[in-house]
Amino acid sequence: MADTLKGRHVLITAGPTREPIDPVRYISNHSSGQQGYAIAKACAALGAKVTLVAGPTALADPDGLETVHVETALEMLAAVETALPADVFIAVAAVADWRPAERADKKLKLDKSDFCSLPLTENPDILKTISNLDAQRPGLVIGFAAETHDVEALAKAKRIRKGCDWIVANDVSGDVMGGTENAIHLVTPDGVESWARMPKQAVADALAEEIAAAL
Ligand code: CTP
Repeated sequence: MADTLKGRHVLITAGPTREPIDPVRYISNHSSGQQGYAIAKACAALGAKVTLVAGPTALADPDGLETVHVETALEMLAAVETALPADVFIAVAAVADWRPAERADKKLKLDKSDFCSLPLTENPDILKTISNLDAQRPGLVIGFAAETHDVEALAKAKRIRKGCDWIVANDVSGDVMGGTENAIHLVTPDGVESWARMPKQAVADALAEEIAAAL
């Protein structure tokens, strides 16, 4: 296989984040981590140095790259910032938008606390933060979008809103979440390319090739 990403550092987030409420409960998102891990492997296969910042998943650490394990969005952002500089940043993680304002040290008891009004605070947007860096902004910043409808239009708007270069828009109207296939639209400043539904590893391989061609 060609070493088209040799000498490049690719930084990737994957999986969900887990935001603790107390020692036994948390807020999280559905995410198997499969697509992010597949992209990490695909970039490493093209010779890149890869740092994979992963929330909790059931997946084994891929060979030939560095996996940094985190739980929360704050930890994920800190690990990403620590891993900079990078040539490419790919935000695949399903980061929880909110976290409990306070983490209880002891298990909350339903009779003593009101779960219906658990105070939440907003998590940092890691993709937006990295997209808007000055000196340390990676040359290519790629975000993901999971949409059930109006996929292309919403993804185009998200690209502008986040300040990233590309959006990989994921049509999750079928059984994509946790499934092994993905139907995606690649949104770049030049327009939208719609790819046929294919296995997540094939999506990853094709994306890694596109990245290598763009650098
Ligand atoms: N993302 C991130 N940090 C967050 C939230 C999202 O890095 N706190 C990244 C994801 O990794 C992904 C992209 O942003 O690359 C997804 O955007 P997001 O705004 O989370 O999409 P939705 O939650 O689908 O938002 P909306 O409801 O506005 O479509």
